[in-house]
Amino acid sequence: MTTTWVDGFGRTIDYVRISVTDRCDFRCIYCMSEEMTFLPRQRILTLEEIFRCAQLFVANGVKKIRLTGGEPLVRKGIVGLCEKISALPGLRELVMTTNGSQLTRYAKPLAQAGVKRLNISLDTLCPERFRALTRVGDLHQVLAGIDAALEAGFEAVKINSVILNGHNEDEVLRLTEFAVSKGLDISFIEEMPLGHVGRSRARSLFRSDQVRALLEQQYQLLPSSESSGGPARYMHLQDYPQTRIGFISPHSNNFCSTCNRVRLTAEGRLLLCLGNEDDLDMRALLRRHPLDDEPLLEAVKKALKYKPERHNFSADGEVQIVRFMNASGG
Ligand code: GTP
Ligand code: 5AD
Ligand code: SF4
Repeated sequence: MTTTWVDGFGRTIDYVRISVTDRCDFRCIYCMSEEMTFLPRQRILTLEEIFRCAQLFVANGVKKIRLTGGEPLVRKGIVGLCEKISALPGLRELVMTTNGSQLTRYAKPLAQAGVKRLNISLDTLCPERFRALTRVGDLHQVLAGIDAALEAGFEAVKINSVILNGHNEDEVLRLTEFAVSKGLDISFIEEMPLGHVGRSRARSLFRSDQVRALLEQQYQLLPSSESSGGPARYMHLQDYPQTRIGFISPHSNNFCSTCNRVRLTAEGRLLLCLGNEDDLDMRALLRRHPLDDEPLLEAVKKALKYKPERHNFSADGEVQIVRFMNASGG
């Protein structure tokens, strides 16, 4: 008999995002504050603990696992972990979200380890701006990483662009042209108010309908009913069928009614919703019951009953969730 997890609102939970580390080699201004303290090693789940969770998830109907961070590729042993997770019977796809900085080295090993798709963050094509937005990153390294990903044979590579008013909204068309020229999908994301990043988020909110209006100056957008099982709504570009445009609109188009996911944070909290604090301490359970999965399973099932109905991000950018994005993996 196949099991599936259903939450208290009747939503089937078959997608788990696992943050394998809170560390990152970038310091993006929408994700982190300038000074960050990262978790000490003993508070982070070991690779074995992460794998045990993945096994439990997949055995209970989870079909899609996305590894995130921080930056997942700064975690030692990541390729071996991918190999083991992707081989779990019943898993439809193992995918990853990365900042792209290390893909010249890792793209091929990841594809060989069974990672099916990569989402790569890219918010600007201007090297100085890239440095300003990531505080430390090198655009050329990421562009070379995107090319390496394209050569490595993934089923799909997608660009994620967080658009911030006054920072990069004037690059929507340029980023789209880049995606079209490479035959990539691109998703435009509204910034979410997670963690105090030392800047007013209300002023920088750039809504998806504003992005769409910019795109319509140059492209004819066609509706699409496709889904990648994530929060994006997709549109096609007439004349450029290989590029889909995704809109991830936590403010302007709440997607919570179709939410199919939970997250495992780097320190082993099973977060029921990105925009709420409700969680289950999986790390404590893993360490208390090293050989018996039953108590973990029971606790997860119980926790799912309390998955919140929706996130409540306010458009004035007021931070209600003090946790930074890097801690929960987006
Ligand atoms: P696909 O598998 O390609 O659909 O990817 P995805 O959109 O599920 O994952 P990705 O890591 O690329 O995330 C894109 C954006 O969506 C990030 O900004 C995430 O924080 C955001 N996101 C993903 N899931 C949720 C969610 O449940 N709630 C909210 N508010 N944002 C989410
Ligand atoms: N709001 C929206 N998206 C964010 N990301 C990181 N921080 C935020 C935020 N505050 C994005 C990254 C990456 C994905 C995992 O989440 O750009 O693409
Ligand atoms: Fe690192 Fe991603 Fe956060 Fe940027 S958004 S600092 S790349 S975890």
